[in-house]
Amino acid sequence: MSIIYLNGQFIPRATATLAIDDRGFIFGDGVYEVTRVVNGELFESSRHLKRLGRGLADMRLQPEESLADIEEISRRLIVENGLTEGEGTVYLQITRGAAPRTHHFPPAGTRCTVFMSAQKFVVPHDKRATGVSVVTYPDIRWSRCDIKTVNLIPAVLAKQHAVDNGVFESIFVRDGTITEGSHTNCFGVIDGELRTYPASNFILGGVTRDVTIELAHELGIPFEARPFHVQDLPRLEEFFVTGTTTDVMPVVQLDGRPVGNGRPGEITMRLYNAMAKRLYGGT
Ligand code: PDD
Repeated sequence: MSIIYLNGQFIPRATATLAIDDRGFIFGDGVYEVTRVVNGELFESSRHLKRLGRGLADMRLQPEESLADIEEISRRLIVENGLTEGEGTVYLQITRGAAPRTHHFPPAGTRCTVFMSAQKFVVPHDKRATGVSVVTYPDIRWSRCDIKTVNLIPAVLAKQHAVDNGVFESIFVRDGTITEGSHTNCFGVIDGELRTYPASNFILGGVTRDVTIELAHELGIPFEARPFHVQDLPRLEEFFVTGTTTDVMPVVQLDGRPVGNGRPGEITMRLYNAMAKRLYGGT
């Protein structure tokens, strides 16, 4: 039976309940994180915690649990849920707590709701071998996409658009520019140069994105944090998306047209192999 953490207690998932007035439910007033677990170890935990800390500060959320507590709870959930071997994810959500509905903040002393769970995760290696297809979708999100808020309606609509079209992911387009995927960041190769949308309020600064950029530097791959535009898409030599639940995933078709030679790109796979070393160790 899966054990979760809710507001100070470790309890079976099936017995966990939330107040109907929880502001996460009423307003989407909260933040979340998804962290990868490989053989019991949290992948890039400090980066996830740093991003969480920034999100909490920007949203003016003050949970009782410190970032150190959250890391400790994650470790306990990994053990309690038998994830010390193989792959998993830890999910965390912090909302502004339960209080009678007002748009402004609830009374001082209202306790933030803190929910965490750990579950098995099946890595999509089969998809990586062939590469995936994606479609573009208008970026209808707000202008603080850098905060990992649970208010995910545009991401839900975008990902459903991908599912409706039988493809892996939707790629957001804002003012003619590719920003990121519904739950991934995007990288492209044009004229041998790796590019991604610069860190800003218009994308979520992905942990996997940061690691990918680090790996590109280590491998000597020319890299520039600059966006590409819709009119650049036919010139893409390679394209891939990154994220905690996708690693580095080659994209071989975009809006029904092949990317490059229609197979996972060379730079993409060099980066994935370097990422796999980080994830799994070895040479
Ligand atoms: N999503 N961009 C968006 C909009 C995301 O939601 C995510 C992650 C990423 C990749 O970030 P990271 O590399 O830190 O996972 C980029 C998570 C996995 C989710 O919503 O399930």
